[in-house]
Amino acid sequence: MAIQIPRGTQDILPGEVEKWNYIENTAKKICENYQYREIRTPIFEYTELFQKGVGDTTDIVQKEMYTFRDRGDRSLTLRPEGTAPVVRSFIEHKMFGNAVQPVKLYYNGPMFRYERPQAGRFRQFVQFGVEALGSEDPAIDAEVISMAMEIYQQLGLKNLKLVINSLGDKESRMKHREALISHFKPHIGEFCTDCQNRLEKNPLRILDCKKDHDHPLMKTAPSILDYLNEHSKAYFDQVLDYLNALGIAYEVDSTLVRGLDYYYHTCFEIMSNAEGFGAITTLCGGGRYNGLVQEMGGPETPGIGFALSIERLLAALAAEGIELPVARSLDCYVVAIGDETKTAAFKLLHALRSEGFSADKDYMGRKVKAQFKAADRVQAKFVAVIGEDELKENKVNVRNMATGEQKELPIDGFISEFKKMANMGEE
Ligand code: HAM
Repeated sequence: MAIQIPRGTQDILPGEVEKWNYIENTAKKICENYQYREIRTPIFEYTELFQKGVGDTTDIVQKEMYTFRDRGDRSLTLRPEGTAPVVRSFIEHKMFGNAVQPVKLYYNGPMFRYERPQAGRFRQFVQFGVEALGSEDPAIDAEVISMAMEIYQQLGLKNLKLVINSLGDKESRMKHREALISHFKPHIGEFCTDCQNRLEKNPLRILDCKKDHDHPLMKTAPSILDYLNEHSKAYFDQVLDYLNALGIAYEVDSTLVRGLDYYYHTCFEIMSNAEGFGAITTLCGGGRYNGLVQEMGGPETPGIGFALSIERLLAALAAEGIELPVARSLDCYVVAIGDETKTAAFKLLHALRSEGFSADKDYMGRKVKAQFKAADRVQAKFVAVIGEDELKENKVNVRNMATGEQKELPIDGFISEFKKMANMGEE
């Protein structure tokens, strides 16, 4: 049997790839307007980066990483997410010393997680993400959230739900942690082994357990919002005030904890409400990670960001029946009639392309009628025909496929005449 694509991955074929480019370009444009700059980090990093950065107790690190040893016996991991690599790069390139602060970055690239593949869940998927490092202004939190919303809205999505929570600062989290341990400890035997392990290491993660989701103790678990100290509460309120000011609707959900360990204060997810979207409705996740830069060996630096996957975005667009404006067209198809005209036609084609027109010709030895059909199939705006008579007279016959108008243009100086004809067609 022929070799097949690995499970949880996909080929993005012509016809589909235009949508990806359209989405990525839209998101990039929005980021550039917000003054974020692109960063590209390697696809693999030392495994330790994610153990430290994402957190030892997370599902990602415990179960989902593609880790391997290279020929030098170093443990490397295909990146499961983009925040830890960006933070590593921020420290390594001393961006904390940049003249422009905060440091606002965006990235777009494949991530790898060994998860059970299903609709909206892949083993290789593409994340578009942003990270803003160096500011603890609640306006940056609102800025990052509004960017994510703008990406979706500019692409036409309507059925969106923003869910937001605060995990508080260190002090608030410690108090909440103790409360969670006291709450779960007497009954921890009724929970899965993962949760039993999490109890002392990271009890917050119990709230995110898929297996024990329906255990009655989950519903009565202490809410982080009741444990926020004054600073954390004021911070959260300011973020919400900014969102209100921008008219961004949200729902506060104190059970939103996210699957990564580095969050403090604001965390959020954007879901699709579209009917028929399927079980996995989270399109985008993000939050604030004050403390992460320091933990990774850099100076104390606050940070916040989000990541969304293009795969889920496409699924949301499909669920809402939104077609992206990605129709392809061809400026000119060159038809050669007779063997003697082939070289002249090929030169004409080259001249068109050199001037920035999209142009093509037949390479399949088709007869003239079939060449016209081929031009139709690729939606050529113009067809330029060179026959033996035309060649002798130094002429090309150009047909506007939309209007049927035909003109004879000189082979010498063809481009300038073609431009005139093409421009008239545009008006
Ligand atoms: P995350 O919630 O793990 O956060 O992933 C963010 C988004 O990536 C998800 O909301 C989802 O759209 C997409 N995603 C995750 N796993 C898959 C998968 N297996 N297949 C398809 N899409 C997937 C992070 O990765 C954080 N680094 C986000 C962040 C940036 N926080 C602060 N800055």
